[in-house]
Amino acid sequence: MSKRPIIIDTDPGIDDALAIAIALFSEELDVKLITTVAGNVSLENVTLNTLRLLHFFGKDVPVAKGAAEPLIVEFVDASNVHGKTGMEGYDFPEPKQELLLEEHAVNAMRRVIMESPEPVTLVPIATLTNIALLFAMYPEVKTNIREIVMMGGSATRGNKGVMSEFNIATDPEAAQMVFQCGLPIVMAGLDVGLKALVLPEDSEEIKKMNKTGDMAYHLFKRYRGGSFGTGLKMYDSCAIAYLLCPELFEVVETYVGVELHGTMTAGCTVVDLRGYLHKEPNAKVCMDIDGEKFRAWFKEAISKCN
Ligand code: RIB
Ligand code: CA
Repeated sequence: MSKRPIIIDTDPGIDDALAIAIALFSEELDVKLITTVAGNVSLENVTLNTLRLLHFFGKDVPVAKGAAEPLIVEFVDASNVHGKTGMEGYDFPEPKQELLLEEHAVNAMRRVIMESPEPVTLVPIATLTNIALLFAMYPEVKTNIREIVMMGGSATRGNKGVMSEFNIATDPEAAQMVFQCGLPIVMAGLDVGLKALVLPEDSEEIKKMNKTGDMAYHLFKRYRGGSFGTGLKMYDSCAIAYLLCPELFEVVETYVGVELHGTMTAGCTVVDLRGYLHKEPNAKVCMDIDGEKFRAWFKEAISKCN
């Protein structure tokens, strides 16, 4: 069976790093392109981190830089969670600069999508600025996109605001444009991300597996997405897990909108589970995950890395 072509849009980011590793070493996914966007840290740093990761993994996937700022709101990063550089805690090799394309991420995505012999899956695990720009500039790409499987949003509480999740809240207008794009969307938000935990015993096991596991262990010691002692949240790996092991998830098809003007709720995803808004469903929302099975899946996936 041919590998599923995907484009990962990312902001490494400690949890991004493990999601990218799992995708790169999966026998089922063909990572055609990795695009970067300002999010966890600046565009420069997330791009350098991506190039460092590809050098570390020994994978020559093309990389294209995307948006340095959100469409409208002021950019606020998450360096408090991932450290100043975005991947503090491990001494990576130099960034593999030769993998960095001259093209802007949006142009590179358009080229890869339109050249692909089979529909491409977009896997945004960061702010949705690049994806929104892609659809605004090149709507024709929708003819060759299979679906969008994102990490983002929340049907309940937030991790950036009271009700807002970081990837959505960092660029709410972009997120609204993506949820309105008309393509099949899978939203793996905090409802599953908060339960996709790596426990201390898992970290100790992973550390001994291979160099990726050792790298992960060192990053986990610095990562503030949860705590090393009670469980680290592998938010972005949920999007990859959905692609590779959808049976881990409970999914509800419903309408998702993005609140843009709430004085206390701007940037939250409004997941209309009971149809109060009388709008057609536009997304499959991952509402639950089997945490134990996720842990086993995650460790098995890391064991396949180098
Ligand atoms: O809310 C979690 C998301 O924000 C993850 O993608 C994490 O990497 C950060 O970007
Ligand atoms: Ca991310």
